[in-house]
Amino acid sequence: MSAEQRPRILILGANGQLGQMLQRVFAGDGVVEALGRDRCDLADLDQVRNAVASFAPQLILNAAAYTAVDKAESEPELAARINAEAPGVLAEEAKKRGALLVHYSTDYVFDGSKRGPWVEDDPTSPLNVYGATKLEGERNILSAGGRALIFRTSWVVSAEGKNFLRTMLKLGAERDELRIVNDQYGAPTSTRAIAQGTKAVLASAGVEGAGEDTEGGVYHMTCAGETSWSGFAQAIFAAAGPSREQGWATVTGIPGSEYPTPARRPANSVLSNEKLAARFGVSLPAWDAEMRGILKTLGVARG
Ligand SMILES: NC(=O)c1ccc[n+]([C@@H]2O[C@H](COP(=O)([O-])OP(=O)(O)OC[C@H]3O[C@@H](n4cnc5c(N)ncnc54)[C@H](OP(=O)(O)O)[C@@H]3O)[C@@H](O)[C@H]2O)c1
Repeated sequence: MSAEQRPRILILGANGQLGQMLQRVFAGDGVVEALGRDRCDLADLDQVRNAVASFAPQLILNAAAYTAVDKAESEPELAARINAEAPGVLAEEAKKRGALLVHYSTDYVFDGSKRGPWVEDDPTSPLNVYGATKLEGERNILSAGGRALIFRTSWVVSAEGKNFLRTMLKLGAERDELRIVNDQYGAPTSTRAIAQGTKAVLASAGVEGAGEDTEGGVYHMTCAGETSWSGFAQAIFAAAGPSREQGWATVTGIPGSEYPTPARRPANSVLSNEKLAARFGVSLPAWDAEMRGILKTLGVARG
């Protein structure tokens, strides 16, 4: 296939954990341009317009976001520009050229009060600024009326970047005891699974066909299974090889009320992935298998 025939793929947020994995997984799938904040700052809406206009992509994968959940409480305007306004502008630019926009959203659009997994059209009611700005981003994309897929994911982990798994490996080797919240439930989801899942959706629908559905374009996309933050920490230390003579830190579960943070977080943010499976035949692997894969990549898996 000549360079003119291969799809032009624009990846934004290239230096984030998901952005790095998307670059790897989509590397052979087209002419890829991956821009970090230094080359496309989503806080500058003209830069967003220019990035799309100058590369002229058929597919945009937007992994850029203001993800500092606690800090967002004190920077709501900046978080809104990056998470809400910029995705709306991206969607308008994509529509102008008939491109497909793939965007990632969050479990934090829900308030956590439901018993059982949340489905896509359950009522949203974010508890924090981050969740509210991400929800506004979804709405801005959908109201632009172009071709878009919005994948809500959760508890993102990877062998690189800033995430809970890497923080646990660091703190678990330094300390004897870690007090971790045990009354918030979700599904840890690897960037590998999200990037592969995205690719599988596009393979199922085709870049040209995807985003044409009548169901709003919002899909949940998380790894299978669920756990609490303390359950996740325990699983990490059980699957990781010995770190030092005295082993990993002991995990003590505590209620969220004993770990106050600027941003409130939902108690149950487990998402149902049934819509994704029914529409595209795509399911992500179990969170604990993905966790073991990351530990292996980091060279710390047991056995
Ligand atoms: N992390 C999670 O647990 C989680 C959970 C649910 C949903 N999500 C969603 O999943 C997607 C990927 O998140 P992630 O985990 O890969 O986050 P991440 O590792 O924090 O990466 C986010 C990237 O966005 C970039 N960014 C921030 N502000 C920007 C700006 N003004 N202009 C351009 N780029 C900017 C960051 O750039 P710098 O490298 O320069 O800081 C970073 O590279 C996001 O949409 C996020 O909302 C994440």
